[in-house]
Amino acid sequence: MAERTLPAPGPGRAVLVTGGAGFIGSHLSDGLVALGHRVVVLDDLSSGDLRRITQEVRFVKGDVRDAGLDALLREERVDTVFHLAAQVDVRKSVADPVFDAEVNVLGTIRVAVAAAAAGVRQVVFASSGGAIYGDPIGEKADEDHPLHPCSAYGAAKLAGEKYLEALRPEDGYALTVLRFANVYGPRQDGTGEAGVIGIWMNRLLGGEDAVINGDGSQTRDFVHVSDVVRALQSAFQGRIAGTFNVGTGVETRISTLYRLVATACGSGREPRHAAAKPGEQRRSVLDPTRMVEVLGVHDPVELSHGLNATAEWFRLHRAGQGLGNR
Ligand SMILES: NC(=O)c1ccc[n+]([C@@H]2O[C@H](COP(=O)([O-])OP(=O)(O)OC[C@H]3O[C@@H](n4cnc5c(N)ncnc54)[C@H](O)[C@@H]3O)[C@@H](O)[C@H]2O)c1
Repeated sequence: MAERTLPAPGPGRAVLVTGGAGFIGSHLSDGLVALGHRVVVLDDLSSGDLRRITQEVRFVKGDVRDAGLDALLREERVDTVFHLAAQVDVRKSVADPVFDAEVNVLGTIRVAVAAAAAGVRQVVFASSGGAIYGDPIGEKADEDHPLHPCSAYGAAKLAGEKYLEALRPEDGYALTVLRFANVYGPRQDGTGEAGVIGIWMNRLLGGEDAVINGDGSQTRDFVHVSDVVRALQSAFQGRIAGTFNVGTGVETRISTLYRLVATACGSGREPRHAAAKPGEQRRSVLDPTRMVEVLGVHDPVELSHGLNATAEWFRLHRAGQGLGNR
């Protein structure tokens, strides 16, 4: 459950964003800089891009699995670690579960050990609601929903949560686990859990067909990246520990999503259908009540508005014309 401790952060201390050159991490870094925090980004650039990072952050190219993390945390007097670095491709996790676990389990263990050793005050972990609950029993999955990860990625995220908890010293870092729904918005690419939006937008804006795997009746909960950043910042600024879903509670069929994306792109193309991906979840929708009540994240961006703004960004930036800040 949620609990509040000290206000964040102490003077002169930095915040570290692992995976800060990625889609969500770069938006988070921007938000933290705007709030006046000193931000350090650690990213190996395996899927991240330096063009997403503002000049105001210190960028360190490195791998969360490396032992040097402890030294970086001490050198920068890091108050809070936002651990977002991950292998994020669910299909890749199925094809190569060992690599997925190396990054997502061993990398998270490294973060936990280093944060404990360096006296970090809070760790905020990017977990996944969609990947760890499995198909929801009942209407929506709340944080107490049974855990049935159906991919190596989901199993690794769940293991990450548990390691961060188990390795937390008594009186050690406050631990905040945020279980994101399918996150979309500007700067996304085609790999994350809402990657289909980026793939479709690139294709439709380029005058090409887009593909729905299966009949389109499968459902997801699409949350705009600005709402995810609000949840991350609220957990940090209030030093709020606990486990929270970060979603909208709105269940959207993939066929409906396609129509909204096509409209946002000004495209009248019908989707092509391909075979359903084996093992894919039928339904996913998170109950965001705790996020609303405790983190104070109200009024999520409505999907069609968020998609219109995202399509606008893709119009300007698609085909490698730059990803964000630079
Ligand atoms: N996008 C979503 O829909 C979604 C949903 C649920 C959870 N999440 C989680 O949110 C986090 C951010 O996801 P994203 O969509 O921004 O993905 P992303 O791929 O854009 O960002 C991940 C970043 O981590 C970096 N990285 C990967 N391995 C690394 C390593 N070993 N050391 C250092 N850096 C490394 C990559 O270069 C990249 O910049 C991830 O932990 C992901 O699992 C995302």
